[in-house]
Amino acid sequence: MNPLNHVAIIMDGNGRWGLKYKNSRNAGHRAGLNTVEKIIKETIHQKIKYLTLYAFSTENWKRPRKEIKYLFDLLENFLINKIDKLNDQNIKLKIIGIKNFSTKLNKLLNIAEKKTCKNTKLQINLALNYGSKSEIINAIKKLKKNNKPINEKNLIKNFQTKNIPDPEILIRTGNTKRLSNFLLWQAAYSEIFFEKKLWPSFERSDFKKIIRKYKSIKRNFGSI
Ligand code: IPE
Ligand code: IPE
Ligand code: MG
Repeated sequence: MNPLNHVAIIMDGNGRWGLKYKNSRNAGHRAGLNTVEKIIKETIHQKIKYLTLYAFSTENWKRPRKEIKYLFDLLENFLINKIDKLNDQNIKLKIIGIKNFSTKLNKLLNIAEKKTCKNTKLQINLALNYGSKSEIINAIKKLKKNNKPINEKNLIKNFQTKNIPDPEILIRTGNTKRLSNFLLWQAAYSEIFFEKKLWPSFERSDFKKIIRKYKSIKRNFGSI
């Protein structure tokens, strides 16, 4: 059976779900948060050590300001209301991406990271203002600046995901088959599952089914 340490998820389909069932994209973002909580529970149940959630890409700034504000307000409330619960559950929260949000949100994110930094049960990496291409370019720039050889080992050390093992499973919900600038390097050998369901409709049982399927896949890594 394949080992499983890290699951990464592109949580796509909130907007379409919201429009379909509540006539509002933002209602879909709110509903998506319930799925996040369910999936965290199942991740703990499965004893998986790392869960990376793509919440906001560097390209998502192209969205209407009102939607962006709604997303960040949701995140602020989530941090204010849930960080103690996450902490009590021994969960560590880490942000991957560039923290250049409002002073208030930056501060809440820093507090949340600091508060949970010693926790060991599960590490949740929240990809926020994250873009894989800029992550790779920044790593190369840093190596050049410090006169270090550009090789795999040095690059990885300069990614925002340093010290995090590559995801064995990458899931994208929302019936679209693309990576949208997410973990392009780290997913080089991930098993990728494209799910038809929109994120707010994605259930623990769907997640379990993927894990079961993953465990029986023959992974070659170029060998036979
Ligand atoms: C993903 O859902 C969440 C974010 C990008 C913040 P979308 O908002 O992209 O939902 P669809 O793809 O438009 O349905
Ligand atoms: C990817 O979804 C980003 C997140 C889920 C945060 P998008 O909805 O932004 O992706 P595209 O634009 O359809 O590729
Ligand atoms: Mg989308």
